[in-house]
Amino acid sequence: MIFVHGFPLDHTMWEAQVAEFSRDFQVLAPDLRGFGASGTTPGVVTMERFADDLAELSHSLGLTAQGLVVCGLSMGGYIAFQFLRKYAALLRGLVLCNTRAAADSDEARENRYRLANAVRQEGPDVVVRQMLPKLVSEPTRRERPDCIARLENMMRRASSEGIAAAALGMAERPDSSALLATVPCPALVIAGELDQLAPPSEMRTMADAIPDARFEIIAGAGHMTPMEKPQEFNRILGNFLHSLEPRSPQG
Ligand code: MLT
Repeated sequence: MIFVHGFPLDHTMWEAQVAEFSRDFQVLAPDLRGFGASGTTPGVVTMERFADDLAELSHSLGLTAQGLVVCGLSMGGYIAFQFLRKYAALLRGLVLCNTRAAADSDEARENRYRLANAVRQEGPDVVVRQMLPKLVSEPTRRERPDCIARLENMMRRASSEGIAAAALGMAERPDSSALLATVPCPALVIAGELDQLAPPSEMRTMADAIPDARFEIIAGAGHMTPMEKPQEFNRILGNFLHSLEPRSPQG
């Protein structure tokens, strides 16, 4: 299975999931271009480009024969939609966490352009100021300083150009709402009760549009469900993974 991180983070946001699920599954949790330890591609990196990277990586590691479960959070979800658009035949399960199918509004797009310019001039400080307060719920902010510190470190590790290129890529992403009815495999949709960025009501509507989807809300969590409530998240994901039918050797 492939865990796809959110913006502007890196693979370490999935630490608790990698530890848990590597016992039973082959798990990949890459750093996307421009984030963590990966190299940066300047300009605009589209969600399609990130999805192509994931497909190439899984092919090169010989992981596609049994089918893939793609689990993306937020920007990782936007990338999962592009993966679905181009590589649906590889999917055995789809997990959409704290994300949305709709494209950006004009206002959101303008904000991305402003953010990209500001980050290029001032560095990752800008995203730390703008995004960190919105990523976790109020209870997490009070009770989990470790979680806030990890998020801040991830943002500061990202390259300015990588952040800008992904922000511009998100602004360009197409609306994926029409794809929901075409999901060819079981899906799991996970929302955070207190998520301001991907509200649970919108995520429920998204789940309702997928032919075979379960919908779960994690109480007390904001946008970063896998980090804020790792045990609850892993229980829900584990139940889903173990419910998937094994693929026959013929695929
Ligand atoms: C994320 O967590 O990946 C971002 O909130 C996505 C976004 O800015 O739309």
